[in-house]
Amino acid sequence: MVREWDPRTASPAELASLLDTLNAVLAADLPQDPPWRGTHLREYLSEVMPGERRISWVAQADPAAGGAPGPILGHVHVLLLGDIGVLEVLVHPSVRRTGLGRDLARVAARRVYQEGFQSIGVEVVGGTPAVAFYEALGFSREYVETRSVLDLSGVDWSALAEMATGVGAGYRVQFCPGGPPDDLIEAYARAKAEVRDVDDGELRPSSYDPQRLRDSLATLHRRGMKPYIVLATHDRTGEVAGLTEVVVPAQHPTRADQYDTIVVQEHRGYGIDRAIKARMLLELRSAEPTLTEVQTWNAQANEAMLKVNAELGYRPDREWCEYGVDVAELVHRLGG
Ligand SMILES: CC(C)(COP(=O)(O)OP(=O)(O)OC[C@H]1O[C@@H](n2cnc3c(N)ncnc32)[C@H](O)[C@@H]1OP(=O)(O)O)[C@@H](O)C(=O)NCCC(=O)NCCS
Repeated sequence: MVREWDPRTASPAELASLLDTLNAVLAADLPQDPPWRGTHLREYLSEVMPGERRISWVAQADPAAGGAPGPILGHVHVLLLGDIGVLEVLVHPSVRRTGLGRDLARVAARRVYQEGFQSIGVEVVGGTPAVAFYEALGFSREYVETRSVLDLSGVDWSALAEMATGVGAGYRVQFCPGGPPDDLIEAYARAKAEVRDVDDGELRPSSYDPQRLRDSLATLHRRGMKPYIVLATHDRTGEVAGLTEVVVPAQHPTRADQYDTIVVQEHRGYGIDRAIKARMLLELRSAEPTLTEVQTWNAQANEAMLKVNAELGYRPDREWCEYGVDVAELVHRLGG
């Protein structure tokens, strides 16, 4: 049975059952990824940025003989943001290829259509059944990134310490756990705005004005995701010349996510990219002693960044694709 579901009021048993399904999905599709924990899972599933809405449904098995609720075997949510609905469908490996994924996609697509949105986007991990699933539903591939993973046990820490100091004269590098200091928020947002069309990070959340940046940091904290930032400021102008952001989610705290790394155009060529990323890893080593890996996503064309990541020890892992579809077409195809 598929029903609308609100994670804010869901019972602890439902959240635990959903977590079991998520981990069964990871074990089947991405066995190298760390399993998720239930820490802040409710907040992770319910908190959104101002102006955004997330609507969720679950597929629950029939009650067992004694009347206990059946397990949650499927989940779909759609995040309505701007002019697009971002979809995520999960089906427990034990009940795949029975049409449940299609049912979940249908209920979400109908709602997105009723809400007046025109397109749906979805992140699809290369080499998993999701590729054939979304292609069968008429989605087309719009953008491809490569996910790479750095195993911290293989890092040469003394080489890294050297890299961290290899920044040209006239720049100051600082570590900002929790987010950029308030007096640098505006300069930080300017740096992000300047390169938004140039660099990677298409699929990662990104904020370009000070208020949105503050909202985005507050949302991360509420969702149990701890942001760490290293930034390089230009001594003469006080501008933010470069920044790198890593988030440690309470749900998988041994593997951190690299968000944006940006070096503003006029400050390129001074070793900032390498130095801030190296400094970040050194700081994380003491700030997050249980961390064992960091994952990052890069556009395949972004050769400069891929080169620095390779020097740091990142190894390419998976294709990470963005697919899209016209909502009306999807509803029609699914029999809406
Ligand atoms: C993608 C997913 C939702 C599909 O769920 P499902 O219930 O198996 O999908 P359905 O049974 O509704 O399949 C619908 C159609 O998709 C296609 N399809 C689905 N899985 C497929 C596979 N493994 N190979 C080929 N085609 C497939 C088929 O055309 C299928 O129709 P058919 O069975 O009549 O041939 C499920 O595999 C899943 O949860 N994957 C993980 C998704 C994810 O987000 N993971 C993130 C972390 S890895």
